[in-house]
Amino acid sequence: MKIVVIGGTGLIGSKLITRLREQGHEAVAAAPNTGVNTITGEGLADVLRGASVVVDVSNSPSFEDADVMTFFQTSTRNLLAAESDAGVRHHVALSIVGSERMAGSGYMRAKVAQESLIKGSSIPYSIVHATQFFEFVKSIAAAATDGNRVRIAPVLFQPMASDDVAIAVSRIATGAPLNGTVEIGGPERLRFDEFIRRGLAAQNDAREVVADPHARYFGAELTERSLVPGEGAQLGEIRFDDWLRQPVPQR
Ligand SMILES: NC(=O)c1ccc[n+]([C@@H]2O[C@H](COP(=O)([O-])OP(=O)(O)OC[C@H]3O[C@@H](n4cnc5c(N)ncnc54)[C@H](OP(=O)(O)O)[C@@H]3O)[C@@H](O)[C@H]2O)c1
Repeated sequence: MKIVVIGGTGLIGSKLITRLREQGHEAVAAAPNTGVNTITGEGLADVLRGASVVVDVSNSPSFEDADVMTFFQTSTRNLLAAESDAGVRHHVALSIVGSERMAGSGYMRAKVAQESLIKGSSIPYSIVHATQFFEFVKSIAAAATDGNRVRIAPVLFQPMASDDVAIAVSRIATGAPLNGTVEIGGPERLRFDEFIRRGLAAQNDAREVVADPHARYFGAELTERSLVPGEGAQLGEIRFDDWLRQPVPQR
């Protein structure tokens, strides 16, 4: 099967390409540095020729509210129109658990807008809602740093390894379209502040992690269950402590 991975050079995309090829599929990485740009339309019709499935794991280069909204809306509109012309039979997109519960976040509003365009199109689809990736300990901490303290809301958290994300997305992409949303998450649930505390300690980072119920995540205030999936979520296998013990380059 020809499967085009939009954002196939990124963190999730590159792992997905490897996995799909191992399974014998013709997996093609599409991104600006492979000559495909979903914003300008460059290379899109060519790369989609003969494709059965498109997986969108792209991300906006800028996280400013207006930029990220423009990115996901423009990119998704261009992609769905090109897929319709090419006869693509399954559009898969990676979004975020709880995106619809975090309207205070411009990033989340943009993901919800992306999802709405997909649901309103004629292309059969599967939307995958993933929890946060282990790989983002550092960037989450950086965004939450206030002097020598890192302020994190002590809400429930169920992050997952990007390897587990790629496994789940490849399974969904090679199955029948769900015409709905599936949730995926990590194998264990902990507190958000505890996750960041453990992650920074493993990197010998001396910053103090403070539990602050009003600390925002991507601009949104969080409630106890904003970030965790419901019952029926598909869970990965890699535990955070095992992942932390891996050699640094694999992170
Ligand atoms: N952060 C989380 O915890 C989390 C949780 C759940 C879901 N997600 C979602 O997961 C998805 C993938 O995230 P990631 O961290 O793997 O992303 P990433 O590593 O930042 O990769 C982004 C990819 O998008 C490509 N891209 C950027 N602009 C493009 C354009 N105009 N046309 C085509 N491709 C373009 C990039 O290509 P270049 O390298 O050539 O620029 C790159 O391949 C995102 O949609 C995100 O919302 C994230």
